[in-house]
Amino acid sequence: MAAQNSKIIFFSAFILLSVAVFGSQAALDNHYYDQTCPQAEYIISQTVLNASIYDPKVPARLLRMFFHDCFIRGCDASILLDSTPGNKAEKDGPPNISVRAFYVIDDAKAKLEKACPHTVSCADVIAMAARDVVTMTGGPYWKVLKGRKDGRLSKASDTTNLPPPFLNADQLIQTFANRGLGIKELVALSGAHTLGFSHCASFVARVHNFSTIHETDPSMNAEFASMLKKKCSRSNNNGDAGQFLDSTASRFDNDYYRQIIAGKGVFGTDQVMYNDQRTRSMIEAFAKDQNLFFREFAASMIKLGNVGVNEVGEVRLNCRRMN
Ligand code: HEM
Ligand SMILES: *[C@@H]1O[C@H](CO)[C@@H](O)[C@H](O)[C@H]1NC(C)=O
Ligand SMILES: *[C@@H]1O[C@H](CO)[C@@H](O)[C@H](O)[C@H]1NC(C)=O
Ligand SMILES: *[C@@H]1O[C@H](CO)[C@@H](O)[C@H](O)[C@H]1NC(C)=O
Repeated sequence: MAAQNSKIIFFSAFILLSVAVFGSQAALDNHYYDQTCPQAEYIISQTVLNASIYDPKVPARLLRMFFHDCFIRGCDASILLDSTPGNKAEKDGPPNISVRAFYVIDDAKAKLEKACPHTVSCADVIAMAARDVVTMTGGPYWKVLKGRKDGRLSKASDTTNLPPPFLNADQLIQTFANRGLGIKELVALSGAHTLGFSHCASFVARVHNFSTIHETDPSMNAEFASMLKKKCSRSNNNGDAGQFLDSTASRFDNDYYRQIIAGKGVFGTDQVMYNDQRTRSMIEAFAKDQNLFFREFAASMIKLGNVGVNEVGEVRLNCRRMN
């Protein structure tokens, strides 16, 4: 009996220790809602598709939402919580050129609550929506693992943990490594910049008064730099001006990698990966072989979706508020 008990205690301690060491890595499952909400995938994809037809900015916004959610407190829908009188939430933190299209998630969630109440977590809705926008804009399809729970904490101050667009290669690699993501994931996931747009504020420092020696970033193609210089003002960049992140910004393809090889990466962080030996060959491979990029992107999105997953949270009824 004593031996039995000590075995149980030992085993429990082992599980607790594993959780402590490896984080709360939930066993996410592709079939998680098969019995409880078989329509979940369909409801989300239809909502996302409809919203994207009305507003072509939606795909890029939802893809970026997933990245920001997973990089702060793990993929727990902390990005969806609204600020309250006592707490300024993530979505209201700097940079104020922040994630949008929350209404699409609200829409999908409202339909899910009708079809299968209190079942599908907001964190899973973001993960499925991010996959849907990639597939619908011409990118790969993958099976989204589900079973995430929603967190109960969202703090504006946490957004300082997002990588800013001027990190060097070491810093960029480190911020991914901090989430258990390797160099391959860094290069593949950066390919998300095949979709969407940046405001001037995120890259203007590369084209006006870059350094005491160089007016523009010497790693940027000179024509591209002078084009961006005209688009963005030297000092006041709070408006809507900006630049598409690659030349086919509403199509998910590998053009982003060809652009950075040509010195036309919009962010310093995009360009820096081409100038570093650890990441350069992967960029060349993805630029040559779109199928390779698609496979690595899908695999990396699954890994991103595993970051800091919450098993003990709740399924929010409304994604903007905890229950
Ligand atoms: C590697 C580090 C990354 C940095 C430094 C970075 C930085 C940025 C910045 C500064 C913007 C422009 C924001 C604006 O001015 O409106 C942006 C846009 C975007 N980012 Fe990233 N990002 C990174 C990685 C990622 C990843 C991993 C994803 C998704 C998997 C992603 C998806 C996007 C998308 C889709 C947009 C366009 C958003 C839109 O059009 O509304 N980014 N990123
Ligand atoms: C489609 O999207 C538009 C714009 O967001 C919205 O007004 C409309 O209700 C949506 N239709 C469906 C069937 O979801
Ligand atoms: C350019 O940057 C330097 C500091 O690096 C600053 O002293 C100078 O005022 C800036 N010039 C303009 C025109 O913004
Ligand atoms: C961000 O917000 C601050 C304070 O509200 C403002 O001073 C700044 O100009 C804003 N930046 C951008 C890029 O909108």
